[in-house]
Amino acid sequence: KGFFTYDPGFMSTAPCESKITFIDGAKGVLLHRGYPIDQLAEHSDYLETCYLLLNGELPSKEQKATFADEVKKHSKVDDSVAQIIKGFSRNAHPMAIMGSAVNALAAVYHEETDITSEESRRVTAYRLIGQMPTLAAMAHKHRQGEEFIAPDADLAYAENYLNMTFGTAGQSPKVNQVLAKAMDRIFLLHADHEQNASTSTVRLSGSSGTNPFAAIAAGIATLWGPAHGGANEAVLNMLEEIGSVDNIDTYVAKAKDKNDPFRLMGFGHRVYKNFDPRAKVMKQAADEVLSELGLENDPLLAIAKRLEKIALEDEYFIQKKLYPNVDFYSGIIMKAIGIPTEAFTVIFATGRAVGWYAHWQEMVSAPYKIGRPRQLYTGYSKRDYPA
Ligand code: CMC
Repeated sequence: KGFFTYDPGFMSTAPCESKITFIDGAKGVLLHRGYPIDQLAEHSDYLETCYLLLNGELPSKEQKATFADEVKKHSKVDDSVAQIIKGFSRNAHPMAIMGSAVNALAAVYHEETDITSEESRRVTAYRLIGQMPTLAAMAHKHRQGEEFIAPDADLAYAENYLNMTFGTAGQSPKVNQVLAKAMDRIFLLHADHEQNASTSTVRLSGSSGTNPFAAIAAGIATLWGPAHGGANEAVLNMLEEIGSVDNIDTYVAKAKDKNDPFRLMGFGHRVYKNFDPRAKVMKQAADEVLSELGLENDPLLAIAKRLEKIALEDEYFIQKKLYPNVDFYSGIIMKAIGIPTEAFTVIFATGRAVGWYAHWQEMVSAPYKIGRPRQLYTGYSKRDYPA
């Protein structure tokens, strides 16, 4: 008592116990409730994985159908939130719109949210998972100056996102199945990643007993930055800045130069010191989408492929164990699908919402303490106010 550990960046601090996700960064292992991520990506889908993360077990067929139904039933966004979105300028960043809209859900549902009630927590999960893709699509439509499209009860989760984003109001939906499958995979691969900065933020924020939507909005704010979820946007910006395969060597040299702050976006990870298992699946999904859309010869992709090859063979990257991460490939898929670069992190947030919520739920379902780190004070010692 009275002693604490100085641990900048929480490199060696575990502030909680959790049964949700296991990562072995050295071996490149990621398990959700014990199931390897590659098996979930191959055999499961996003909503089933949501159920697993929230409930600890895979659902029966009936449970799966009921869960999907409830999510769908709660996917329409309240008109007050639609009005808030419409109030933003057309070029407001979509992550700013998302954060505000999710915080606004606290205003819509606060009176009926009881964090001590299991039933209330279940309904909040349906609302959050159901409305995230609707909000993501609304942010997009608003920025495009187009009419919002309501969720369609006949469409599956990722299909609905694509239709609400790229469809035209009043026309029947036409969704490409290869793209819908890739979108579902993107959501699934982002679903949870234990105590990353945004999830830790949701737990810390939630530990004060605040409204869960407000805690999730805090997670969205944290995810936005380029060192975290914003990396997928930064990857595409970087590929565009590199501009040609001929310029790659210059940028690799910049990344290796200790006196240059430039980093290769989409490379490296705080925990993985091996190939990120999600990146392997994402790479395969990227290949499928590009071949479906006939984009194998896309110039940005050529830069990405060459960069990946160089980084995997370069002594600097090998020694520092810097592998391409999940954001490296997800950006390429989203770009091919037609999602604007600045909206990439919104897709990450949509997939991650369930992970944030599962951690919040795990915390509030058992006795917990408010998070309150200490500090190493390096300021003045006591001195007197000048008389
Ligand atoms: N390019 C060049 N050098 C790098 C990179 C990179 N992308 N990443 C790390 N390094 C170097 C860094 O300069 C340092 O070198 P030295 O030991 O000589 O000082 C060494 O590798 C260790 O880096 P660090 O910053 O101490 O490592 P960290 O665990 O604090 O940072 C990271 C992890 C992900 C923030 C970092 O690798 C990075 O900035 N990557 C680029 C951004 C990115 O892709 N972020 C997405 C992360 S995955 C998805 C998510 O979590 O949301």
